[in-house]
Amino acid sequence: MRDEIRKIAQSFETELASAGSADSIEAVRIKYLGRKGLMAVLMAKFRSLPNEEKPLIGKDINLLKARIQNALAEKKEKQRSGPFPKKSYTDVSMPGIRPEEGKLHPITKTLSEISDIFISLGFNVARGPEIESEFHNFEALNIPPEHPSRDAFDTFYISENTLLRSHTSTVQIRIMEKQKPPIQAIMPGRVYRPDAVDASHSFMFHQVEGLMVDTSIRFSDLKGLLSLFTKRMFGAKTKTKFRPSFFPFTEPSAEVDISCIICGGRGCRVCSHTGWLEILGAGTVNPRVFEAVGYSPRKYTGLAFGMGVERIAMLKYGISDIRLFFENDIRFLRQF
Ligand code: PHE
Repeated sequence: MRDEIRKIAQSFETELASAGSADSIEAVRIKYLGRKGLMAVLMAKFRSLPNEEKPLIGKDINLLKARIQNALAEKKEKQRSGPFPKKSYTDVSMPGIRPEEGKLHPITKTLSEISDIFISLGFNVARGPEIESEFHNFEALNIPPEHPSRDAFDTFYISENTLLRSHTSTVQIRIMEKQKPPIQAIMPGRVYRPDAVDASHSFMFHQVEGLMVDTSIRFSDLKGLLSLFTKRMFGAKTKTKFRPSFFPFTEPSAEVDISCIICGGRGCRVCSHTGWLEILGAGTVNPRVFEAVGYSPRKYTGLAFGMGVERIAMLKYGISDIRLFFENDIRFLRQF
């Protein structure tokens, strides 16, 4: 009987070792542990043993049965977990691999913040071409060929009469050529100037132009509108100052300053210790502009303003160099 137990143990071991698939493992199980399997036959023989032999042989049989059961269970488990080692598992508590996320460029973001404010006040958004005629960039805006204010704007010419626009005021003309008042629109876009590039200048930047035309628009409307805009853009505590200035296409004209958002007006490096920051140009529409587009200057009045988006973004986000916007350095862009 002892011999038989040992033989069964050996043959089980070799058969299990060569059982590769789930089916063949199951076949081994049936052969040894099945109802008519080898262990059952062994048990039948065991029962007919004389009583005094039963304890020792019985122990051996039980040990063998336990060994067979354990070995089968272990092999099945290995089979189930496939080619990986048994300890390989997915740690669901581990931080995931985050895919790179796209973001809006700070200029795009600032542009839409500006637009949202004016859209909420009833403004439409209009666009015009970046390649413009001299007429739209200069003459119609009351800047005749010999006018000194052309110098700063005399910019990239494509041909005799066409150039890259130096400001978005060109779109004022394009809107008024196409439609009658009332007009209430903002006009965002790129503009080009022959400026040497440094921390605060770029040959290309973005502006948002604004225009309102109706029968009774006054300078006080301009003040109210832009004071509201600066408060929404830079915070409710922001103060606004209108300084007399000159633009050929507005009369009177003003340069608009806000109380320094860094020091609150007390004076610091950013505002050159003046407490104020210049953010845009504005005025009531010069009647000569209305004449150029065929509006009656006696019937209509209007207000216009233009601001640099880079300048506003730099102030709002504390950016010290305009070149950062155009270098596409991901470490800079990631911060917005
Ligand atoms: N076009 C002017 C500039 O580029 C800004 C401006 C727009 C001023 C509208 C007054 C009215 O500097």
